[in-house]
Amino acid sequence: MTQPDIVPPASPLLDTSLGEGLRIGLFDSGLGGLSVLRDLRQHMPLAQLLYVADSGNAPYGERDDAFIAGRALAISEFLLSQGAQVIVVACNTATAMAVHTLRQRWPELPIVGVEPGVKPAVAVSVNKRIGVLATPGTLASDKFKRLIEMHGQDALIVLQPCPGLAKEIEAGHLDSPALRALVETFSQPLREAQVDTVVLGCTHYPFVAPLFQQALGPKVRIIDTAQAVARQTQRVSAELPRLPRPDYKPTTQLWTSGSVSHLAQVADRWLDLKAQVSVFP
Ligand code: DGL
Repeated sequence: MTQPDIVPPASPLLDTSLGEGLRIGLFDSGLGGLSVLRDLRQHMPLAQLLYVADSGNAPYGERDDAFIAGRALAISEFLLSQGAQVIVVACNTATAMAVHTLRQRWPELPIVGVEPGVKPAVAVSVNKRIGVLATPGTLASDKFKRLIEMHGQDALIVLQPCPGLAKEIEAGHLDSPALRALVETFSQPLREAQVDTVVLGCTHYPFVAPLFQQALGPKVRIIDTAQAVARQTQRVSAELPRLPRPDYKPTTQLWTSGSVSHLAQVADRWLDLKAQVSVFP
């Protein structure tokens, strides 16, 4: 009688579409990128997420390109040293000012940037009057100018810089009188311009989307790109090698250059996330 072939037990298949076995690094000037982290956790709940909040240097929106490029390089270097296989620049300002520097430094690395959702806004707007809320740095950048040239031609685009808004959100109170006053100031020109669609062009702003909705009125459609970023991250990581099961846990780890306890509290309050938080070295 011939012996049957000995077949090794099938290794359990990793659920790659849910991010299993994958380490994703992301960063922002501070707490804003948590809005991207939130959607990444929904789309890829089995991925290991490594997040750096550069709150000690926030806001980025009023800083120069060289400073932001330096921070983006140092933080990405750190995330790679922690095993990140993909970098998500969860910050519109850092994407506008530094994503090209990161791509030059690591030409083979999948890097996902975040940019204001002008294209989807033009697609859904009925009256083709669109407002863009973003940091002064993002709106002044060449990358943003090119985005408008490419996708904003068929619409009236009203640019509204929001100095001070990310800083106020960093304080962690999403309904303070100071925050409401800023939201009102930045919404008024958009109401006057009768826009029907407003782009949140900074990852901090989704956390105050309800305040903007109130100030702009219920008919205005608000566009946030976090879901699109999560889908793009899924796409670029589809072919990456996966870490094997026993060595791998789908945890979320946070680091900050600001206050560890503040980030821990905010992650818990805003995302219901109880994560290990460490000092960014
Ligand atoms: N969250 C950032 C962005 O998406 C930057 C906010 C800031 O630090 O000014 O642009």
